[in-house]
Amino acid sequence: MGEGLKVAVVGATGAVGNMMIKVLEERNFPVKQLKLLASKRSAGRKLQFRNSEIEVQELTESSFDDVELALFSAGASVSRKFAPIAASKGCVVVDNSSAFRMEPDVPLVVPEVNPYALKHHKKIIANPNCSTIQMVVALKPLQDAAGIKRIIVTTFQAVSGTGQKAIFELEEQVKAWVHGKQLEPKVYPHQIAFNCLPHIGSFLDNGYSEEEMKMVNETRKIFEDNSIQVSATTVRVPVFYGHSESINVELKNPLTPDDVRDLLEKAPGVRVIDDPGSFKYPLPLDVAGSDITFVGRIRKDISVDNGIAMWVVADNIRKGAATNAVQIAEILQKESLI
Ligand code: A2P
Repeated sequence: MGEGLKVAVVGATGAVGNMMIKVLEERNFPVKQLKLLASKRSAGRKLQFRNSEIEVQELTESSFDDVELALFSAGASVSRKFAPIAASKGCVVVDNSSAFRMEPDVPLVVPEVNPYALKHHKKIIANPNCSTIQMVVALKPLQDAAGIKRIIVTTFQAVSGTGQKAIFELEEQVKAWVHGKQLEPKVYPHQIAFNCLPHIGSFLDNGYSEEEMKMVNETRKIFEDNSIQVSATTVRVPVFYGHSESINVELKNPLTPDDVRDLLEKAPGVRVIDDPGSFKYPLPLDVAGSDITFVGRIRKDISVDNGIAMWVVADNIRKGAATNAVQIAEILQKESLI
């Protein structure tokens, strides 16, 4: 495969893993050799990369003996077990799971926001939660310009974030509904088709869900600012691709909606679509397939001094997971941090 790194994708048959392969190819990441890893169930399956078909192998402790960079997306328990094994063999891991995100020694990185955090990595780097990534990309210019005091966010999250099985479940429930039938939910505790579930991850003692607390803790870690107050409500909605977020942010210093529009128009990885009178605002159906974070409905939050309200949409499998991981890998490679 020419010059480059020996790369592995762990969870290659999953929704995010598959996209990682695609994004490595699209962005022409320098791959010398690509190893595709998944569970025993998928061993022998073939997946396309560039002009060749690569056979999926079962993930084992020796999988990383000849790998320099591993992108993990096979869930937290797989990462907990195998990422340290990979790292001990000298492989640099970019982990999409929640396993290591809050470890003080593990950089939690969104390239548009805190690329400098990669400098002193100790072989494991965490990719933030999909909902956190798009929120901090959109809020970074506001944090820099005016300082953030408090964030109230409600998410509308696509089923692809749960994985391949959930995409299938929504499809099957919609088909069944059309034929006047109802299917027993398997992935979610309730039917997801034509419904909204205010429940992502387990509920904690404080009444918030795990997903909601990820948004609180990860935002503070990425901005390196524990004074930022965050309250999140995360909701699963019957959308295949693209998370949407309603964000109300209270700033330390005033910014007008026009200031915010100007800042966001100049911000890396952001596009403003904000002409509601002409029906123009970001929509998940439109942003699916893009690596950009889209912002619209920018207005003054009239309930508080220095408040701004906005609507933020991004492809959760791409910018929220696979693309962010590959962007991290690009920095590591370019800055000789692998
Ligand atoms: P497999 O397809 O063999 O089950 P998704 O998030 O879309 O459900 O994908 C999860 C990914 O993680 C899949 O590639 C899946 O492989 C992989 N995976 C799940 N459990 C394991 C495991 N114990 N070892 C290796 N890969 C795993």
